[in-house]
Amino acid sequence: MKKTVLLFWGKGGNVERAARKVYSLFDPSRIDIFDVASFDTSTITNYDLIILGGSTIGAEVWMDVKDDNEWSRFFSAIEKSDLSGIYVAFFGLGDQVLYPDHFVDALGIFRQEMQQTSATIIGEWPIEGYKFTDSDGYDGKMFFGLALDEDRQADLTIERAKKWIDGLKKQAGF
Ligand SMILES: Cc1cc2nc3c(=O)[nH]c(=O)nc-3n(C[C@H](O)[C@H](O)[C@H](O)COP(=O)(O)O)c2cc1C
Repeated sequence: MKKTVLLFWGKGGNVERAARKVYSLFDPSRIDIFDVASFDTSTITNYDLIILGGSTIGAEVWMDVKDDNEWSRFFSAIEKSDLSGIYVAFFGLGDQVLYPDHFVDALGIFRQEMQQTSATIIGEWPIEGYKFTDSDGYDGKMFFGLALDEDRQADLTIERAKKWIDGLKKQAGF
């Protein structure tokens, strides 16, 4: 039985709300959900698909404060895990009106970190339907994962997530 783990950070805000929406679209017996600080990283190879969800809150907060950043801790902890044959996908929260030059930059960081593992990255997402000027989370054509904007387009989240997950399941052979 193929199993997914959904890891998110931070807690209690838009990311968690979006994470619960994504989770609700899976059969609950086929998915586990944890905030990333509560996840036992030694169990990561038990999964076939890893979904990482986070927000962009500025590079200086996100990755630079190495000792006080749950994602940094997570990436260091899984550095030596053999993730061959495991798929990974990301969703990123952002605000395209207030941060149009850095919309969902975090998708780029997720990608950069996971490219250093042997996991297979899936889940690119088209940029149609968003208004932004630049992002580290895309290659000019596609986002590196699902872009969600709970501040401006919360009503689109579930529909976007459904489409994205259908694509993930196909790509991961579920
Ligand atoms: C200090 C701060 C910086 C932010 N910087 C960005 C940014 O660079 N790019 C972006 O797309 N969104 C940015 N946002 C918007 C958040 O990513 C967005 O509101 C997200 O939904 C917050 O999720 P949370 O409630 O789980 O923290 C920023 C928000 C804050 C408060």
